[in-house]
Amino acid sequence: MRSKCPVAHDDFMGYSLFKNEDIRYVNEHPEIFSNKVSTRHIAVPNGMDAPEHTAFRAVNDKYFTPERMDAFEPKARAILAELVADLPRGEEVEIMDDFAQLYAMRIQNEFMGWPAELERPLIEWIDKNRKATLKRDREEIAQVALEFDGYIHDLLQARRDAGDNAPQDVTTELLHDTVKLPEGERTMTEEELISLIRNWTVGELSTVSACAGIIVSFLANHPEEQKRLRENPAGIPAAVEEIMRLEDPLVTNRRITTQKVEVGGRVLPEGSRVTINWASANRDEDAFEDALEYKPERSQEKNLVYGSGIHVCPGAPLARLELRVLMEELLKGTESIEVKKTENAIYPAAGYSTVKAVIN
Ligand code: HEM
Repeated sequence: MRSKCPVAHDDFMGYSLFKNEDIRYVNEHPEIFSNKVSTRHIAVPNGMDAPEHTAFRAVNDKYFTPERMDAFEPKARAILAELVADLPRGEEVEIMDDFAQLYAMRIQNEFMGWPAELERPLIEWIDKNRKATLKRDREEIAQVALEFDGYIHDLLQARRDAGDNAPQDVTTELLHDTVKLPEGERTMTEEELISLIRNWTVGELSTVSACAGIIVSFLANHPEEQKRLRENPAGIPAAVEEIMRLEDPLVTNRRITTQKVEVGGRVLPEGSRVTINWASANRDEDAFEDALEYKPERSQEKNLVYGSGIHVCPGAPLARLELRVLMEELLKGTESIEVKKTENAIYPAAGYSTVKAVIN
């Protein structure tokens, strides 16, 4: 598509953009490519435009500062060390079900201060949410969203009821945090809080768990690189960025045009639905030399795995931390990783639905 039809139209996706440069243009012009793709529900901060978006992003971003990430790292490492130690040795293990989802969920629980009982229901919820999103069935999407809202509502209510005795965690902090809107400063409404937390959870549980499968199968399929990284853990952050570029765990996001605009040589009318294809942007041969080759030493300036512009992923510092620690602990806690079988995930999921591995 990049070479034959870089701006393609179909009824399901609207205008799909495949070129790295075109997608960066979109991200640099949020006034033309709006994130308000749905008028039915609020989506904090994803479905907002400036100035509302700016105010909610300011709240959002406070939770992912370098200081917070440094403080969280030992907790993430402890979760990973335990999960890696628990992986059965010498026999086939299904990485997606038995490791990847638990890994992402436990880290999310720890980050938010949620109880372990939420692990399974939320893992199942992510799957339902993905299926409903794929079908674009509005009723089903609303129903699935309500189920999530119930879980979060209970967590928030328990903290409200506990008053000063509420646990000192991110969930309690969010409850009292204020957003500085043009019309004044106020705490977030229940709907806004739940939406923000839902978007963090989807970010964490769908993309980060996909990354675990991607990283395990990458290491297994590149034994030389596995060996190099075992001996040289300092190379891990660059390796992770390059693996994410090649095997992007998030395929698309959407926009809607606020005016007629030309992009990639094609004129899009006002009100056009636009699909940004991150996976394609990251394999664009005009943005990356030998784009399909793994070269961890290359510049990642044009890597769009976490997006760019005002909607650039606020969870990227947490995701990078989780993926680095994942690879560090996997390589430290094992002697070899082999993959016997993989099955590709189906859009909108990315990576693999199955990764059968043998760990020693
Ligand atoms: C490897 C893991 C992740 C990847 C690849 C990823 C990727 C992305 C991308 C490409 C965007 C931009 C979307 C757009 O422009 O429409 C985005 C936005 C976002 N991500 Fe992530 N993300 C990851 C992990 C996370 C985590 C861990 C969180 C939170 C805990 C998170 C929360 C969000 C939120 C709230 C937004 C919306 C930001 C806005 O609209 O201003 N993500 N992410």
